[in-house]
Amino acid sequence: MYIAGGETLFVQHLGITGARTLDYFKKHMTGYRAAQKAAGMTTEAIIDEVKRSWLRGRGGAGFPTGTKWSFVPKTTAQKYLVCNADESEPGTFKDRAIIRNMPHMLVEGMIIAARAIGASRGYIYIRGEYEEEAGILEEALKEARDAGQLGKVDIFVHRGAGAYICGEETGLLNSLEGLRGEPRDKPPFPAVKGAFDGPTVVNNVETLACIPSIIMNGGAWFAGLGRIEKSGGTRLVGVSGQVNRPGLYEIPAGGATIREIIYDICGGIADDRQLRAVIPGGSSTPPLSADEIDVVYDIEPLACAGSMLGSAAMIVVSEDYCLVRLLERIVLFYERESCGQCTPCREGVAWARKILSRIERGTGTDRDISLLLSVADSINGKALCALGDAAALPIMGFVKKFRADFEAHVRGGRCPGA
Ligand SMILES: Cc1cc2nc3c(=O)[nH]c(=O)nc-3n(C[C@H](O)[C@H](O)[C@H](O)COP(=O)(O)O)c2cc1C
Repeated sequence: MYIAGGETLFVQHLGITGARTLDYFKKHMTGYRAAQKAAGMTTEAIIDEVKRSWLRGRGGAGFPTGTKWSFVPKTTAQKYLVCNADESEPGTFKDRAIIRNMPHMLVEGMIIAARAIGASRGYIYIRGEYEEEAGILEEALKEARDAGQLGKVDIFVHRGAGAYICGEETGLLNSLEGLRGEPRDKPPFPAVKGAFDGPTVVNNVETLACIPSIIMNGGAWFAGLGRIEKSGGTRLVGVSGQVNRPGLYEIPAGGATIREIIYDICGGIADDRQLRAVIPGGSSTPPLSADEIDVVYDIEPLACAGSMLGSAAMIVVSEDYCLVRLLERIVLFYERESCGQCTPCREGVAWARKILSRIERGTGTDRDISLLLSVADSINGKALCALGDAAALPIMGFVKKFRADFEAHVRGGRCPGA
């Protein structure tokens, strides 16, 4: 683990024996003192503090958390807080580290968030494969409940069955209710009509785990941890692929460029090879080429560079890797994970994958490259939820930036990555 300058919220607790216990949490972290502080604050004051912090959702979209909470109507209806622990975007492994090493930080964040939005029930929706982590959460909740820390909120762990679509917030809510994990039409948004038709906030694990330190130290303090405008706190960055030191790192929000992360923090490309491409924020985010890595690693700069921070899961690709094969594997994942509810995603992603497989095997034609782009264009922005975009955007990005690789495959030339 590496701390790239500045204060950290998470990495100092990773890998420490006993860090997940209530005892450790009380001694070395906020120890439910932030929840006690929040109990003495009005709900508006809590939301204002979170708005001031410039905490932006860590699940992928980067929506400002305080603003999302303020959308929940102030009615007496039963409201819900749902923690999204589905962590299903390929490349992402940060939420698991939080759950394994500091589950009480998440639970305390949920207690405060539930108070802020007026929810008396909370759910942690955790992906089916995280069996051990679900047990760790159950244990932490029992400790907190027995110690009287949960107060008026009760929190339950709900295990998914392992489907990417159940990370999408409305697919998640359907699954939570025992229905098929299919996304719902929006609007209404969950803040107005969510779980069991009640107003609901869905937040990512890391988002909620940031809340105790915001309440303890103030929103301005958290905002000040970030190094750029409109992005507070730190970012847990999961780096995988062909770097010398893959792993989970914590940097100040906007505190490093992609180049610094790859070469200074992760020790450069493995086996002294050259960098070819970077997928900056999980497999659904468009790639950057090796000459585009001086971009600051955060939400706005990456959007300006034509990609996304997503879930801050950086996948690094060296020169000796076939990008056509890589894209085929990515699209195969989305083909398998499409819930099948809407036509552009169900049919489009499957067709795109078939075309890609042809190109990859060398049986495609020049026309297949433009056909692939046209299929991607007919998915992008036209599916019921962003799963379709998750397949279409990488296709468009890879073909735009590395078209010569695709042409080499169809023309029987030498693939630059082979
Ligand atoms: C197909 C798809 C999969 C998603 N998977 C996850 C996930 O595994 N974890 C997550 O926190 N958000 C995921 N999201 C984003 C959620 O829909 C939602 O925006 C997020 O949980 C909100 O939390 P935040 O505001 O704290 O980021 C996914 C979105 C889509 C479209």
